[in-house]
Amino acid sequence: MSQVHYGHIYHVTGAPKVTDAADALVSIPDGALVIDDEGRITFCGNRSEAPEDSGTVFDHRPGFILPGFVDTHIHFPQTYAGDAYGGGQLLEWLNLCIFPSESRFADKDFAQQAAVEFCTRRIAAGTTAAMVFGSAFPHAQDSLFAETLRVGLRVVSGRGIQTQGGETATPLMTSEEDAIRLTREEIEKWHAADTGDVATALLHVAIVPRFSLSVTTETLKNLGELYDEVRDRGVYVHSHLNENNRPGTGEVDSTKDLYQVNSYLDTYDGKFLPGSTVGGKSLLGRRTILAHCVHCQDVELERMAETGTSISHCPVSQQFLGSGTMPWKRTVASGVNISAGTDFGGGDEWLISKVLSDAFKVHISEAGDAGVSMHPGEMLFLGTLAGARALDMEDRFGNLDVGKEADFIIVDPSQTPTLDAALTNLTRSDDPKLASDQELFALLMGIREPAITEVYVRGHRVEAT
Ligand code: GUN
Ligand code: ZN
Repeated sequence: MSQVHYGHIYHVTGAPKVTDAADALVSIPDGALVIDDEGRITFCGNRSEAPEDSGTVFDHRPGFILPGFVDTHIHFPQTYAGDAYGGGQLLEWLNLCIFPSESRFADKDFAQQAAVEFCTRRIAAGTTAAMVFGSAFPHAQDSLFAETLRVGLRVVSGRGIQTQGGETATPLMTSEEDAIRLTREEIEKWHAADTGDVATALLHVAIVPRFSLSVTTETLKNLGELYDEVRDRGVYVHSHLNENNRPGTGEVDSTKDLYQVNSYLDTYDGKFLPGSTVGGKSLLGRRTILAHCVHCQDVELERMAETGTSISHCPVSQQFLGSGTMPWKRTVASGVNISAGTDFGGGDEWLISKVLSDAFKVHISEAGDAGVSMHPGEMLFLGTLAGARALDMEDRFGNLDVGKEADFIIVDPSQTPTLDAALTNLTRSDDPKLASDQELFALLMGIREPAITEVYVRGHRVEAT
């Protein structure tokens, strides 16, 4: 049965660059979204212009209809590791808190319970699609994929690959052979397992080396070869890049020392260990997402733009771990697609709108000419359409254009008293366009989980059960 939803619609239409997102922002105060039996959008516009008898009516007024949020970097095995005190920045936090915490997923029941919790948190946050950094344990990944399918969310994920590290990382590490075998098995088992066709599937698999410090050159070389084999099947790649640059002992310097490269990105680009025989195929491409990219050189940004590799920008986590701020203007100018990630548990928020709110705050605070006041249209773009683009599924979801699969959320401000009060008493400009932008800004800044009352993927209501 087709359906029609009434409410105030905000979305970023078409396929703009982030610099054009403000102009592409659409606001339809008395809007209607019509969805056919297959879960596709057939109309998005003024309620008065909607086709008659469009199907079952869901009246959300005075609530809002937004595209579902897309989180392009979140850690499943850190479901219970948010706000972990690590006594330091990235590398200390990983060794002290995160590796031991992720090791608990060796227990099948614990991993299954975490998969349920993880999906519940995603539904509460309205995250309809996500690139999920997976657990090292195949049974935990089985739980994640099965539970995600059961509730009806989208996911791209792969087991976190580690073949070297210190003592606390040992339970997460495998042999070189197993690193490749287990990833290959995960692809065969779960990639497009729900429909058998990558173009229609909700489930996709990624190749996920944790970061260059967690794998050997041999692993990267073997993963490059594996990716070369499966790239055309729509398999993804996910990892971290240039997150922490504490001089001498931070992630960036340690990686360059270990691999003897001038650019961290080279390690993912098959160009490690120059002058040696160890090198190989690239892991970069239009289905590759690298998280953070706070400290990139121009050559790295150029190479990412050239290959279509996307960034997952995670300002909540970057503050929590003292990683710094991805330079917004410079990164945008490079032409690389920038999407948004919670990086939960490095980040301590599940909500992409909280990531957008922190993005606004950190970028307006950048020094001198670098500081920028993000437009609410750019913020919404970052948390929705740019994420769909990073997942190479922009043709399927990310906004509410006719023909797309209907991934959307209902926001009912009355469920969050502070948001409700802010919107009710908002001082609006006399200029209608500015007034509309001001309302969206207040909405994005003020959404908390209780205000997200309904979540739909491909036209199906997704509920935690
Ligand atoms: N780099 C390698 N592993 C991790 C992780 O789990 N979280 C973050 N934020 N960075 C990483
Ligand atoms: Zn991360």
